[in-house]
Amino acid sequence: MCLATATRDGKPSARMVLLKGFGSDGFRFYTNRESRKGKELESNPFASLLFFWEPLSRQVRIEGSVERLSDEESEYYFHSRPKSSQIGAAVSKQSQVIPDREYLRKKNAELEEEYKDKDVPKPPEWGGYIVHPSVIEFWQGQTNRLHDRIIFRRPKGEDTGPYTHLGEGGWVYERLAP
Ligand SMILES: Cc1cc2nc3c(=O)[nH]c(=O)nc-3n(C[C@H](O)[C@H](O)[C@H](O)COP(=O)(O)O)c2cc1C
Repeated sequence: MCLATATRDGKPSARMVLLKGFGSDGFRFYTNRESRKGKELESNPFASLLFFWEPLSRQVRIEGSVERLSDEESEYYFHSRPKSSQIGAAVSKQSQVIPDREYLRKKNAELEEEYKDKDVPKPPEWGGYIVHPSVIEFWQGQTNRLHDRIIFRRPKGEDTGPYTHLGEGGWVYERLAP
């Protein structure tokens, strides 16, 4: 999915990350918390997620507040990954400037040797986040260009109108012009 974050003063940035879990509480992903996205999320804990399936002509947009996952959950997922990925995470001070590719290769080889017979500890800065959705929009492309857009949102007080429908679990939904 594409994850968009912003600095505290609203300058956006976007990149792909893997969706590693979802539920009624939100959408989970893992990263380095000292990366650019990590720093942006620490100072401005809101994000937007975007999925696009070209063969299905389908897009899903999500917006919400972001929270760190617990150390236990991050720890559990870290150790469920292949050892090479765990070492990769330990090697990479994500988003920092590095001299060259050789620097990474060397560091990777050193850590592979160091952790040959033992578990790789989770780097303290590596962990997960959950996006608690307050808006989810489903876009379905139609051949006649009259595309469907259904937006689910959490109502804020009296902001519902004649075309607002009541969904489940405290959500309301509306149809938007394409
Ligand atoms: C398909 C795909 C999946 C990715 N998944 C992740 C991920 O789950 N976590 C992550 O930190 N970076 C992931 N990346 C790398 C990020 O896009 C990005 O390069 C990196 O996280 C640094 O971003 P930042 O400097 O904006 O923080 C993925 C990249 C691609 C293309």
